Amino acid sequence: MHRIAVFASGAGTNFEAIAQACISGQLDATVALLVCDKPAAEAVARAERLGIECFAFNPKDYATKSEYEQQIVALLDSRGVELVCLAGYMRIVGEKLLSAYGGRIINIHPSLLPAFAGARAVEQAIEYGVKVFGITIHWVDQTLDGGKIIAQQAFNYEGDDAEEVHRIGQQIEHRMYVETIKKILQNKE
Ligand code: GAR
Repeated sequence: MHRIAVFASGAGTNFEAIAQACISGQLDATVALLVCDKPAAEAVARAERLGIECFAFNPKDYATKSEYEQQIVALLDSRGVELVCLAGYMRIVGEKLLSAYGGRIINIHPSLLPAFAGARAVEQAIEYGVKVFGITIHWVDQTLDGGKIIAQQAFNYEGDDAEEVHRIGQQIEHRMYVETIKKILQNKE
């Protein structure tokens, strides 16, 4: 049974999809830890409901990124985490975490990277008038949404309703994230 960690900052729907896939046996894994930089986020409540250990912290309580990342690395080490899945974690991963877990961190992003990196990717794409949207899963390195791409899926949408694009995109994300994690874990066996 593999051990993974999920990092989130918001609603946590991807976290929940991954956790449910572990519970149902679709993934031969367990979510050993949720890391959340917003203690009031819905993701934290989901972890409580699912009985998953959660490290919820406020970055403002730490002098530097390195300080809180050191605490995260210690937790990941002690829980035997093999793969870190960023799922709406809206922070740039720092040196501390990358030097300990580089090559073992993946991220999901709601655009066809390298287009529309960073925050508000869907809104940026709509402002640009794109007709083909998409989702990308990639390895995390020191660049913003810039690591090597693992999986991508596109979908057509003509219009300017960001909520609708988010809704379509999230359905794809939940399925795609689970499938991609499954492949990565199988390659480790
Ligand atoms: C997801 O749509 C994910 O692609 C996006 O945040 C959302 C989190 O939703 N991530 C980024 O924009 C990363 N740059 P969730 O909390 O419901 O899983």
